[in-house]
Amino acid sequence: MNNQELTPNKTPRWVGPVIFFLSAGIVVLLSMLAISIMERRWETTRPSLVLQPIATWEPDNAVWGRNYPREYETYLQTRNDATRTKFGGAFPRDYLQEDPRQVILFSGYPFSIQYQQARGHYYSVKDIASTKRINDKTVATCWTCKSTEVPRKMAELGVKGFSDRLFSDFIGEITHPIGCQDCHDPATMNLRITRPALREAFAARGMNIDEATHQQMRSLVCAQCHVEYYFKDIRYLTFPWKNGLRADDMLRYYDEIDFTDYVHAVSKTPIVKAQHPDYETYSSGIHAYRGVACADCHMPYRTEGGVKFTDHHVQSPLLNIANSCAVCHRWSEKEIEQRVEGIQTKVYEARLAAENALVKAHFDMAAAMQAGIPDADLAAPRKTLRHAQFKWDYVAANNGMGFHSAQECMRLLGESVDGAQQTRLQIARLLAAKGIGSEPNYPDYSTREKASAISQAFEAGRPVDLL
Ligand code: HEC
Ligand code: HEC
Ligand code: HEC
Ligand code: HEC
Repeated sequence: MNNQELTPNKTPRWVGPVIFFLSAGIVVLLSMLAISIMERRWETTRPSLVLQPIATWEPDNAVWGRNYPREYETYLQTRNDATRTKFGGAFPRDYLQEDPRQVILFSGYPFSIQYQQARGHYYSVKDIASTKRINDKTVATCWTCKSTEVPRKMAELGVKGFSDRLFSDFIGEITHPIGCQDCHDPATMNLRITRPALREAFAARGMNIDEATHQQMRSLVCAQCHVEYYFKDIRYLTFPWKNGLRADDMLRYYDEIDFTDYVHAVSKTPIVKAQHPDYETYSSGIHAYRGVACADCHMPYRTEGGVKFTDHHVQSPLLNIANSCAVCHRWSEKEIEQRVEGIQTKVYEARLAAENALVKAHFDMAAAMQAGIPDADLAAPRKTLRHAQFKWDYVAANNGMGFHSAQECMRLLGESVDGAQQTRLQIARLLAAKGIGSEPNYPDYSTREKASAISQAFEAGRPVDLL
């Protein structure tokens, strides 16, 4: 037995106090961390500054921005108009330059003169004020989707009073673009509907928009503007939704009320121009079916300094795949991008097939008129052509090149090609009965300039000889 074994405790005296102070230190650090986390949590649930009251119809986004700087600063990023993706982005893509067929398809309507890709919300007033599609007869209703000052004007003048005015009445007076007030109640910041046309469209379908869920509101705020519409009695903004949201339902509605946007200069067909049925197209797609909202992809959450907020840089989600898609889809960003472009390219190719058939159908109709076939005989093929063109345009005019509902878009393009070819077949029979067996001489519309010259000749009543 040695001494050492008899020593009960060889630990030096200083160890006890050190352990005590170390543990005390760790406890202090942990509580500081906990406090910091709680503070951050608290910061996210409350704005970073003391809230200033916002006036009921405050149109100035900068004023709202004092209370909500993160949302305002990201909103301001919609100023960037240089972004591009294969089929989208915010740069001013010139649709007519890229696709001269559309000059012919819109012949007799201002869309054959100017038609550009949409930019960010920041530009909405600038762009409407400078488009060649506006003239001194344009009604004030055209402001509805362009400015956050419209709700105030409607409150002042009444919706009808506002609609009865001219666009030019408000030039210089309406200066603020799309803004906070369009989607938010200034007192509570809850999402809200400020455009009566959407409310009325719900009512026309026997639905009450005030019963919409929070998740539905994250799409419905967009549906105030990103929809198909027409002006009832030339000026009252109306969505043609009474029979439903599909192109076929709208066509039935437009036929019932005998509505036409323009008479086609080449074929004299009464045409309905589709606007941008983004919400309607989205509604038939897989994401709507699964309850994913516009805001989930176009206004995803973003984190900055521990604060989670909604990104107000509304843009193509392909420019922000990590936040927009990858939260739900665990594929690589590259894969997601390729998948979207794959879907879009297929829709694009089908769209061109429909355009080729439609353009020829318009020229065939003109040839039939030149052969002296009476209008009464052309009424049926014109109706077929009207429907075929609207189905194509529902797809072409809606944003996203078919991504929002690829299967529905492909169905419509299939029906559009079929309708255009049926029109051509009916006309070929009428021409054959007159002893004309050969195809018309189609003019060269392969560039924008050539297509414009042909379109203008027809508009001026100088038809190009097709027989
Ligand atoms: C599942 C995600 C998703 C949802 C939900 C969604 N979108 Fe999109 N959206 C996209 C993608 C992807 C594109 C294609 C972007 C591109 O081609 O660069 C797109 C394109 C667009 C564009 C054209 C943008 C551009 O730069 O070309 C608009 C406008 C648009 N969507 C509006 C809407 C509206 C309004 C809704 C709701 C009614 C909606 N989207 C719902 C994913 C979505
Ligand atoms: C086109 C519609 C739209 C516009 C315009 C808009 N917002 Fe939003 N905002 C939303 C949506 C959608 C949400 C998400 C709301 C939700 O899910 O509860 C949101 C959320 C918010 C929130 C809640 C906190 C957060 O970040 O999620 C604040 C604050 C806010 N927005 C401020 C603003 C301000 C300031 C402006 C103007 C600069 C503005 N918004 C413009 C649609 C819009
Ligand atoms: C008050 C009407 C209005 C509302 C509400 C609105 N938009 Fe827009 N949006 C427009 C107009 C007008 C443009 C085209 C602006 C231009 O080109 O000057 C546009 C453009 C866009 C673009 C194209 C920008 C780009 O970079 O490609 C996208 C994407 C878009 N909106 C998505 C949405 C989404 C998503 C919502 C709902 C959260 C929404 N918008 C709500 C009117 C509106
Ligand atoms: C909030 C979740 C969510 C977000 C965000 C989201 N998706 Fe989806 N996505 C879904 C769900 C759910 C489905 C249906 C899949 C299923 O049920 O099998 C789906 C389906 C798809 C499909 C298959 C479509 C088909 O017809 O088979 C593609 C492609 C797709 N998403 C792309 C995208 C892209 C691109 C984005 C971003 C712009 C995106 N998604 C954003 C949830 C989401």
